[in-house]
Order: sequence, then C-alpha cells, then structure tokens
Amino acid sequence: MSLKLIHNETHCQAPSNIALIKYWGKHGLQIPKNPSISFTLDALHTKTKVKFHKKTKAEDQTVVVFEGKENPKFAEKIEKKLPLIYGDFPYLKDYYLEIHSENTFPHSSGIASSASSMAALAMCIAAASGNGEDKKLVSHAARILSGSACRSIYDKLVWWGKSPSLLQSHDEFAVPCYEAVDEIFWSYRDAVLVVSKSEKSVSSSLGHDLMHTNPFASARFQQAHQNIDLLYGAMRCGDIEHFGTIVEEEALTLHGLMMMSRPSFLLLEPNSVALILKIRKHRVLDKIPMYFTIDAGPNIHLLYPDFAKKDVEDFIQQECLDLLENKTFYLDSVGNGARIL
Ligand code: PMV
Repeated sequence: MSLKLIHNETHCQAPSNIALIKYWGKHGLQIPKNPSISFTLDALHTKTKVKFHKKTKAEDQTVVVFEGKENPKFAEKIEKKLPLIYGDFPYLKDYYLEIHSENTFPHSSGIASSASSMAALAMCIAAASGNGEDKKLVSHAARILSGSACRSIYDKLVWWGKSPSLLQSHDEFAVPCYEAVDEIFWSYRDAVLVVSKSEKSVSSSLGHDLMHTNPFASARFQQAHQNIDLLYGAMRCGDIEHFGTIVEEEALTLHGLMMMSRPSFLLLEPNSVALILKIRKHRVLDKIPMYFTIDAGPNIHLLYPDFAKKDVEDFIQQECLDLLENKTFYLDSVGNGARIL
C-alpha cells in the first residue's frame, strides 16, 4: 500500500444510500451504537473531482466548488475533518484540496447528500495514493468523514456495525452483503416522494447526540440487533412481506426516538403521515408489495420489487402527487458503490 500521493488529480462517483435498519446513536469517532444495513442507490449520486496542490503557506486550505460555485461553508467543514483521516492517508498533511463536486439531484431537494459526497471524496483521496480499490480503507475514511457514507462504497446491499449475525461485520468500516440475499433484492426500486425540499430543522449529528440521553436508547439498540438479524433472514428467503414489515418498523422507530428524545423533535410533516396511510391502504387494496422507509427528514422512500414498477408508478401518479412539494419525486433503484471515473 502506497501512502504517498501518486496522482495529483482524481475523479470519482459515489451513490447515496437508504438505510433499512437505521444507524441512530454513535460514540467515539463515528462508531455506531448498533449495526445498520442499507441499499446502495444508483441515480442519486455525487461526482467529485479533486486536485491536490502542495501546501506552501498557512493560507493554503481546502477550496470547494459545488455545482460551479465556490462554497466556503462546505470547504470549512471538510478542512476540519481532513486531519481525522491523516492516519489513513498521511500524504494529506502536505497537500491542500481543490474539490469540484456536483450531485445528480438538486441541492435543496430534501435528499441528504452527505453520504454520497463524503463517499466520493474518500474515494478521490484514496485513488490519489493508488488505493482506490481498497474498499475497506475507503469505507473506513468515509465513516470518519460522515458516518453512513461508509456504506456508499459497496454495491447493492451493505452492512455497517459489528453483529454476531454477520461474521465479517465491523464497526470501523462497512462490508458488502448482497450475495447472500435473494436476487429479488438486487434490482429493488426506491421512489423518493419529496414532501419538503427545505433543509431539516435538526441535523443528524444533533439527533445522534440526543441518543445519549434518550430514555429508550438501550431498548432501541437491542431492537436494532434483533431487527437486522430478522431482516437479513427475510432477505435471504426472498420474503418481501416480512422484509417490508421490519423496514417500516425501523422507519417509525427512528422517528419515534426523535419524538421521545429530550428535548423532543419532530421531522415528519402532515403529508408524510398522509402518504404512509395511503401506502398502507393501497398495499392491501391494490395488492401492491410496496413498503416505506424514512430518513431523518419528512420525505418518504417507497421500496418495491422491480416487477411492481408499473403498479407503483400508477399509484404515485394517481394518489401521491398532490402531497408532494411541486409534485416532485425521484425514481431510483439499487445500484453499485463508489468508483473511479
Ligand atoms: O451518517 P449520518 O450521521 O448522516 O446519519 C444517518 C442517519 C440516518 O440516515 C437517519 C440513518 C442511516 O442509517 O442512514
């Protein structure tokens, strides 16, 4: 493994991911309190180009150009985080980064971009030292940069956090796990129903912090261990119904934890709840195997197998559009992890 810079310009792409078992609560340097599992997405991704310049003076600091515009706020955030990965990439001490980044989804679309952008950055940094193929190393650095970004490195279905249910699982980096599950999940789909495009009122780092004092925290961590085991079992058997039941429980638990934290907060909006009720109603009425999950925000991710594509798209057109901000939704599917372009 080379720890020196060998390419002074790299270009990489990384996808967003959607958690099925949620990571909520951490300790130390982004070590999760419970294992999580996510689908890697495809269409929703970030492309990043990094130019590495030799540092010659104190003012030589990270520059970020996001979607063609210089963004000092992002630059400051990244500048603070880079020393945390000097252990993985010692060459970084001698260089400053000029980062050019763009998303395939609009910045204020209510879709979190930190997982895809930090995974793409970690990949660019690793690729610069010729280590872009060392996924464990890239995932390790991505975790330090932004928690769940560590899952965006691998294809399709990814596990992060030590658990007796998966021997190779680890707290410090994610591992791929799709090969063991039924192929129906390799081409699963995710329709992101955008209830609100506004930036969320409570950041996920504050949300993680509130788990330190949440009176239900230890029961939650135990439940996540049980749920990941049950979910992985259901996915190995191709049991879509059991899969969906656990995924919905996880989403509502995440939001329940927010409501029960001290102080409590609420990220769901009336239209999020209206969509949940409609999904549950039409799942039974029209026999469509669609289940929802929700990240730390008001938007609903509708998950369904490829064969249900037409029925779900008709359901969105006929039942959901009026509940969405500017009728916005994104159709995505399970995809592959970060790569060098
Ligand atoms: O990686 P963070 O710190 O943005 O936290 C992610 C939290 C959730 O998206 C709500 C859950 C998850 O596992 O992705």
